[in-house]
Amino acid sequence: MSSWWKSAVIYQVYPRSFADSNGDGVGDIGGIRARLGHLRDLGVDAIWMSPWYPSPMADAGYDVADFRDIDPVFGSLAEAEALVAEAHAAGIKLIVDIVPNHISSAHPWFQAALASPDAPERDYFWFRPGKDGKMPTKWTGEFGGTTWTQAPDGDWYLHLFTPEQPDLNWEHPDVRKEFESILRFWFDRGVDGIRIDSAALLFKDTTFPEVTDGAPHPFHDLDAVHDVYRSWRRVADEYPDRALIGEVWMPEVDRFTNYLRPDELHAAFNFDFLGCAWDPALMRACVDRTLEAHATVGAPPTWVLSNHDVTRHVTRYGRADTTFSFDNNLDGTPVDLTLGTRRARAAALLSLSLPGSAYVYQGEELGLWENENIPEDQIQDPMYARRGHTRDGCRVPLPWSGDEPPYTFTEGDPWLPQPAEWKDRTVQAQTGDPSSMLELYRAAITLRRAEPGLHAPAMTWLDGDPDVLAYTRGPDFACVLNLSGGPIPLPAGTTPLLLSGPLDDGGLLPVDTAAWLRL
Ligand code: GLC
Repeated sequence: MSSWWKSAVIYQVYPRSFADSNGDGVGDIGGIRARLGHLRDLGVDAIWMSPWYPSPMADAGYDVADFRDIDPVFGSLAEAEALVAEAHAAGIKLIVDIVPNHISSAHPWFQAALASPDAPERDYFWFRPGKDGKMPTKWTGEFGGTTWTQAPDGDWYLHLFTPEQPDLNWEHPDVRKEFESILRFWFDRGVDGIRIDSAALLFKDTTFPEVTDGAPHPFHDLDAVHDVYRSWRRVADEYPDRALIGEVWMPEVDRFTNYLRPDELHAAFNFDFLGCAWDPALMRACVDRTLEAHATVGAPPTWVLSNHDVTRHVTRYGRADTTFSFDNNLDGTPVDLTLGTRRARAAALLSLSLPGSAYVYQGEELGLWENENIPEDQIQDPMYARRGHTRDGCRVPLPWSGDEPPYTFTEGDPWLPQPAEWKDRTVQAQTGDPSSMLELYRAAITLRRAEPGLHAPAMTWLDGDPDVLAYTRGPDFACVLNLSGGPIPLPAGTTPLLLSGPLDDGGLLPVDTAAWLRL
């Protein structure tokens, strides 16, 4: 067992937006296979594929109609298998995304359930009679809005997301059996891990109470969910070296680490770090909290800066106000992209040098920012209608080469518009430019592999200015991130291995700049 997930750099591919091979404007497996060299050159250990299954795309593929096939817009199962083989040949592992809380309303189970109240499939979902002609509860959904939709026969069905994503009934043994079989289906095809969507939802309080302050939440983090992950772990353990990685949004650290107990998931995304403001005390406290919490269960910490659901971090860090919100991209707050880029470069050296595994969301290595100017009539995210916020700005297709959109992402029209300013952010424009974000990521990931200190199990804070984050790993490696109000000298006797930005004329480390150092 290599336990690769404990220290891997894992690159998130959002298939709609990575690369298009057939000119329909939507990325596909052919595009990923053709561009695999980019990921090999970047040096990542694994890729996580956001959903690629047949889907009506009511939620960009997180509404799955068949977990054992590939949507024609992305390709075929044979192409997916070829991608797994080619990734493995390039030394890259592959993780697929499984969505257990809900399925697509187009899934045969739900179609059968809708067709007759007596269908056995009815019990795979939560159909309930209304209360006085109204929906059974007043719950607010995860995208805002209500959580029940009335079926033609009068009953209401539960959906914590959109009406096209009916929630599954995890009390039902058939549901459990089906998902264990789906895990085996993908493990049998050689995939190395599973990313588990909305991993803390699944179970509901079957008395369907209202959400009340102080009372246990009726659908977040119910204890029964752990039994499911224990059985998934048994399935994963039947195969060598497979990992289960949870999307667990959970502010309470002790509840979060429950998911990472030795017989449950191998890892979970660290949203605490993703949501941390650019502030030395808060960041240091977050790192400490993360390391301590994971140590209690012996699980590897993870470091995540961006994903397909949140405002890209170049934009987040570019706001003068350092307080952070996941979905502040349409509120008109001014963004300083130069500042955001400088901080994103420093954050890359931070997240890639802390103990644990690091996640890179596609385009992060190019320094892409949120496209905040998507015309309203092109917005596709269902969250927009329900909550006035869109995640489309972080899902814009990648710029590969050339001076104008679509930057060879496609030969057609990209499904979301790309900014004209991205001509400087293409893979082609950045390759070979030592000051580019792409070369910074390549250099950092290469060094991360080679540098013994970056394989040391722990990190140790160096005492000094509280506005400077400085730590060692191993006997002769250190990282220093300057969050103070002015430039600082590098610690005496150290030599830079990699800098997120140049030292100033006096040889000092500027503000919002990080250095990897040889002690
Ligand atoms: C997760 C996904 C998100 C999706 C939601 C519903 O949070 O990351 O993109 O909309 O679950 O499946």
